[in-house]
Amino acid sequence: MQSLREKYGSGPLLLRIPFRHQAVILSPDDARMILEGSPEPFTAATREKRSALGHFQPDGVLSSQGRGRAIRRALNEQTLETGCPVHTMSEHFATVADEEMAEISRTALASRTLDWGSFFIGWYRMVRRIVLGDAARDDSDLTDLQENLRYRSNYAFLRPKDRRAREEFLGRVRSYVDLADPRSLAGRMGQACTDPRQQPHHQLPQYLFAFDPAGMASFRTLAMLSAHPHIRDDVRQEIREAAAETAPQLELLRACFLDVLRLWPTTPVILRETTQTIAWRGGQLKKATQTLIITPFLHRDEMRLPQAHRFDPELWRRGNERPDLGLLPFSHGPVICPAFRFVPIIATLAMRSLLSRVRLVLNEDQRLTPDRLPGTLDNYTLSFSATDSRRT
Ligand code: HEM
Repeated sequence: MQSLREKYGSGPLLLRIPFRHQAVILSPDDARMILEGSPEPFTAATREKRSALGHFQPDGVLSSQGRGRAIRRALNEQTLETGCPVHTMSEHFATVADEEMAEISRTALASRTLDWGSFFIGWYRMVRRIVLGDAARDDSDLTDLQENLRYRSNYAFLRPKDRRAREEFLGRVRSYVDLADPRSLAGRMGQACTDPRQQPHHQLPQYLFAFDPAGMASFRTLAMLSAHPHIRDDVRQEIREAAAETAPQLELLRACFLDVLRLWPTTPVILRETTQTIAWRGGQLKKATQTLIITPFLHRDEMRLPQAHRFDPELWRRGNERPDLGLLPFSHGPVICPAFRFVPIIATLAMRSLLSRVRLVLNEDQRLTPDRLPGTLDNYTLSFSATDSRRT
């Protein structure tokens, strides 16, 4: 990416690809401009995305346009309380997180190991309770059904839609919306819904699958803390100081989680499509051009960021957004992830609960050299040795 920028300037770089106009964005200012100009004239509902998401949530906000997008976005923002620093249901969610992480901790201490497989099972029990309610805790079939549909969706229009499986999946999500557990996001969304076109059961699938990267980033954060003992000790101190609070705001742990999302962004490409021809410095982007904002490049560009390949939670002290530096783990502008405050809250509550019970030491810690962190970090193969933190 740096060589492209050197050769062609700071872009946007138009790609010569048949049948599709595409432009790679090479500067943080252009990325910001595009994201602030969403959903018009830069729509998030690109052809590829509509096709992919059509496999399991055809009327989700991300693939909606016009009036449909506006009312669904509003419903998502109300449910996730996007504008508020702390979600009003945080205390209950902290209890849920604590119960599920306690179970993961017990298993880890019994086997003296924590690996992705056992973390993921407990993580998703927590997620289903938060999103759909307590009745969904053990409904792992629902998660499997969605996994299969997501697998198909990776092929977008190259694979036919499995309409029967999609209807079964959406029907099951709808049954939880009907149950309306008042201590879940589904219950909250049901109350906030004022227009049948908002379709809560098409919005909630995104919540279920988007908690997957939140789990990956949490697991990677635990690995980073093991590889950075000074920061880990400060995090422990922060957790100890807040021990009496049910749902404390753990600023350092939040910043660590955000920096892990910078180092290994879980949305590596943010896509937009122009809804009209747009004049650009010295040229133009034709209507229906797809713009590609490649976050691993913007987040790791050592020509702009001296700390590019190091762990630097300080970058996030001021909050969960740094578009000024081209850091866009949750995107930016009117289409920013509506959970950009909610996700770090849940992740920190879950990690706090684990860290206060289990001392985790990363196996194969040579995978994380603090001076030059690797470009990717496979969460599936991370594992920790686990001992009781209250005895050490
Ligand atoms: C590590 C976890 C997560 C990351 C990094 C993340 C990041 C993102 C990004 C980059 C987008 C695309 C925005 C764009 O195109 O500009 C997005 C969209 C969205 N995210 Fe998240 N997300 C995460 C978890 C979640 C969770 C757990 C929820 C719900 C509980 C959620 C709800 C949504 C929704 C509803 C949208 C669509 C927004 C729209 O189209 O207006 N996300 N997220």
